[in-house]
Amino acid sequence: MKTLIKTLHAALLSTSLLAAAGAQAADVEVLHWWTAGGEARSVAELKKMLEAKGHKWKDFAVAGGGGENAMTVLKSRVVSGNPPTAAQIKGPSIQEWGAEGVLANMNDVAKAGNWDGLLPPVVANVMKYKGNYVAVPVNVHRVNWMWANPEVFKKAGVAIPKTWDEFPAAAEKLQKAGFIPVAHGGQPWQDFTVFESVVMGVGGPAFYKKALVDLDQASLKGPTMIKALETLQMVRKYIDKDAANRDWNLATAMVINGKAAMQFMGDWAKGEFSAAGKKPGKDYVCLPAPGTANAFTFNIDSLVMFTQKSADAKKGQQDLATAVMSPEFQEVFNLNKGSIPARQGMDLAKFDDCAKQSAADFTASAKSGGLVPSIAHQMAVPAATAGAIQDVVTQFFNSHTMTPKAAADKLALAAKVR
Ligand code: BGC
Repeated sequence: MKTLIKTLHAALLSTSLLAAAGAQAADVEVLHWWTAGGEARSVAELKKMLEAKGHKWKDFAVAGGGGENAMTVLKSRVVSGNPPTAAQIKGPSIQEWGAEGVLANMNDVAKAGNWDGLLPPVVANVMKYKGNYVAVPVNVHRVNWMWANPEVFKKAGVAIPKTWDEFPAAAEKLQKAGFIPVAHGGQPWQDFTVFESVVMGVGGPAFYKKALVDLDQASLKGPTMIKALETLQMVRKYIDKDAANRDWNLATAMVINGKAAMQFMGDWAKGEFSAAGKKPGKDYVCLPAPGTANAFTFNIDSLVMFTQKSADAKKGQQDLATAVMSPEFQEVFNLNKGSIPARQGMDLAKFDDCAKQSAADFTASAKSGGLVPSIAHQMAVPAATAGAIQDVVTQFFNSHTMTPKAAADKLALAAKVR
């Protein structure tokens, strides 16, 4: 019986592949917000691969770090009945789009490519809606990084801080030596990114998970969160007065060119260092944000597939998904993007030490319980909840009157928004 089902399935699959083989080259339109230097180099590789398969790449880039602008534009396109082939959508939002009934079922491609065997369950689960693959992962980003310019620390005569307790003394010295201690862009998603690393460093993975993934009320307004908010207030003292609305990659550039000492940002920042020809361990160093060495806040970029009408468009979409999971793509895209491959079992020989550390920490933290989804990058909670919490974080970050205790109470209230 089992064999019969298998044979039938294989026959069905080959018929649909044959039907697809008759299809023509398609326009493959992909919505994303990868417009900074390293990001654009990564997208260019995807375009090249699709064109090599005979398709036409239709770039649908909507600038804006963190992707808020892109999501707004996507909604209006889908509502008007004209979705792109795929869009960069992440985490729980994939479930929300799935519930709208507008996503394509990619199980045939996934089966042919053995995705279940190649993706760790923590990644595969995010890509499925009701057990069916609707998305394909391009990478795994780590958010809890600190990027530092060692030359700046040397000039200031101070060691790079490894804990939040060491941080203020180091920052004072950097400031006295004429450097900006923390390169930051005052945009809500960047404030939120620093916040989550501080919460992780102060509270540890179990607290982070209780507060920012499970949204436990007592944790959100309790003493550990208040301590994290006090720490965030301390960090804020060390950003420059021109930070308001600065793009993240411009903040990275301040570390690259030695104006600032460090930046708290996910490893897409490494894409900027690489694009500028800088070498890790020499021109810059990557360190887990203070106190977060045994944790990994993950942020998986994925292309979510929208239902296509014509056979051509379907074929283009299947080729896109197949290309994204290929070892060639997972290597070249992530070498440029700063992330590590989502596909397991890849040879990391061409990757630098930061990527190798990320891969090792991903595996170790999965075992120790330190592997947790990033709330600032839409991996942890529904978008509406994350948005409400982000609003509070930004208000607090920009306010000089709100106390950490008041902010913690507001966080707990915001966590109830669905
Ligand atoms: C995305 C990254 C992107 C970064 C900056 C994150 O939310 O996951 O792919 O590079 O935002 O735009």
